[in-house]
Order: sequence, then structure tokens, then C-alpha cells
Amino acid sequence: MRAVVVEQWGGPENLVEREVERPEPGLGEVLVRVHAAGVNPVDWKTRVSGGLIEWGAVPAVGWDVSGTVEAVGPGVGILRPGDEVFGMPLFPRQAGAYAEYVVAPARHLAPKPASLTHVEAAALPLAALTAWQALVDAADVRPGERVLVHAAAGGVGHLAVQIAKARGAYVIGTASAGKHDLVRELGADEVVDYRETPFEDVVSEVDVVLDGIGGETAERSLKVLRDGGRLITLPGPDDVPAARDGVRASWVLVEPDHLGLREIAALVERGLLRPVVEAVVPLAEAAKAHTLGEQGRTTGKIVLSVV
Ligand SMILES: NC(=O)c1ccc[n+]([C@@H]2O[C@H](COP(=O)([O-])OP(=O)(O)OC[C@H]3O[C@@H](n4cnc5c(N)ncnc54)[C@H](OP(=O)(O)O)[C@@H]3O)[C@@H](O)[C@H]2O)c1
Repeated sequence: MRAVVVEQWGGPENLVEREVERPEPGLGEVLVRVHAAGVNPVDWKTRVSGGLIEWGAVPAVGWDVSGTVEAVGPGVGILRPGDEVFGMPLFPRQAGAYAEYVVAPARHLAPKPASLTHVEAAALPLAALTAWQALVDAADVRPGERVLVHAAAGGVGHLAVQIAKARGAYVIGTASAGKHDLVRELGADEVVDYRETPFEDVVSEVDVVLDGIGGETAERSLKVLRDGGRLITLPGPDDVPAARDGVRASWVLVEPDHLGLREIAALVERGLLRPVVEAVVPLAEAAKAHTLGEQGRTTGKIVLSVV
């Protein structure tokens, strides 16, 4: 099969397409024919140096997939050949999603929302599960709570705005001015142009901050939280500021999550969640997708088309 692998850690030019052996599904696993593979910042961050991921013999980045079950291994009861599925298998171990086929534990996948194309479905798993696990599982956002989403037009942010809204929250997003219409369309009640106005000057009494930026944005976010507030920062554990009394600050790492994917699919089918895809790039041009994504200005998601 065709797969994009990492020749050596470094720049996007190290992503190369190769013929590699097609994997076989083992106990409890399925083989997925990949139609589209989503691109996430962790893909290029780990391409640079490997990071903390448990790599296989030939390093292959990429986790988000949408595709069709080709074969099932022994013991799989919930999926059959021909089922259309989406998911983020194996993270933070290697999945190798930039390929024609991937093997995944059955419960690292869920039925693809029928109303989405494979390209749209591949935009969801890692970013939407991150938003879901942060806002719902970790922060337990309640109806009427005030939620501030940083980078509200980005991969995680544009889904987090919609998920927070679906939970009945009052949602404030930060984005540059050209993206405000989109963030409002996605359901935000207020949008702050973070380049013009320090957000802490105009936002206060927030219950939950979802921070996809880290660094000083995470530090400054503590100021807008009310007592009992929760800050969840995403880039890394070193981005978690020392919390003051009465507020909680933490990092969460997204994990494969069958039930979370089903909740996300249900929101899509109820018309409460839709992915925005900024660019679709052929698998063979994965390096181009990374170069684009690494600029840090993506609106929604970049997706690789595989078939
Ligand atoms: N912990 C985890 O499990 C986990 C999971 C997913 C993602 N992450 C991390 O979370 C971060 C965000 O991921 P992502 O997929 O959402 O990234 P992304 O799609 O690449 O984010 C791009 C967006 O960031 C916005 N942005 C850049 N600087 C900003 C600032 N100072 N304030 C507000 N918005 C700003 C850009 O908007 P403008 O053009 O308007 O600036 C752009 O729309 C990454 O560091 C990623 O590695 C962690």
C-alpha cells in the first residue's frame, strides 16, 4: 500500500510516500481502508523530533481517519466489513494514518456520521475529541456557564465553540478580525480580536477557559476566571500556569474514545456540530499540508484525501 512515512525527523520535506506492507488486523482490531486523513499540529510537532510518541519501526505520523472497514480480526463484535467509520486510533502510539490502510482497535473507531463526507469526518476525531474531553469530561461545562475559547477559528477551537454552545454555555471566542463572522456563525456570543485588544481587558467572570495557545495566553487567562473557574490548556504540560486560590489549571491529553466519538457524531446528526475544512490536499502532497498548517493560521482543518 501507499503510505507517507518520516524519512528522518525534521522539516516537511522529510515526509515521503513509500510502498509499504499492508498491516493485518490482530485480536480485537479492524483494518480500515482510509478515504481521508485529518492533519493536526501534533503531526508536524512530532515530525520535527519524534516527541513522546511510541513509534513503530518506520515512523509514520497521522492519527485522524475516515474510511471503510475492509476486514475484522478475531473477537470484534461491533464492526463489520463495509462499515463506514471515523476515529483517532492508538494515540499516543503510532497509527500511521497517512496511508491507504490503517489497523485500529475496534473501539478506537465509531460509525461515521452519515451526513458527512469522508473528508469532513476526517476533520473531526482528534480536534473534536480534544474539545469534548476538555469541556465535557474535564471541565464539566454547565448550561449558562461562561466559556472562553482561545483560537476559536482553529482546528480545536471551531469545534469547541459549537460543543460549548450545545452544552448551553455562553461562549466567547478569540480570533483575528477576518475570522469573526465565522466564529459568530458557529455560535459564539462574543468574539474578541486578540490582536487589537488584550482579551483580559474586555472579558471577565469566566467559568471555563479552553486555551489552545499556551505561554503567556495561559497566564493571562487566569485573570478572567471567577472563583471555581477552570483553565484547560492544550499545547503541553509546561504551559499550565501556577493557579491562584479558587481556580484550577490543567493540561489534558486527548485519548481514543469510542463513546466520545458517538457523542460527537450525534451532535453532527442533530445539526449542532459541523467541521470547517479549509484545504483538501492529496496524500502524496502531505508535505504541502504540513507547510500550510505550520503557519498557525488555519481556519478549521486541513485534510488529506487518500482515495
Ligand atoms: N493536549 C492535547 O491533547 C491537544 C489536542 C489537540 C491540539 N492540541 C494543541 O492545541 C493547540 C491548538 O491546536 P489546533 O488544532 O486548534 O491548532 P490550529 O488549527 O493550527 O490553530 C490555528 C488557529 O490559531 C489561531 N491563533 C494563533 N495565535 C492565536 C492567539 N494568540 N490567540 C488566538 N488565536 C490564535 C489562528 O487564528 P488567527 O489567524 O486569527 O490568529 C488559527 O485560526 C496546538 O498547540 C495543538 O498541538 C493539544
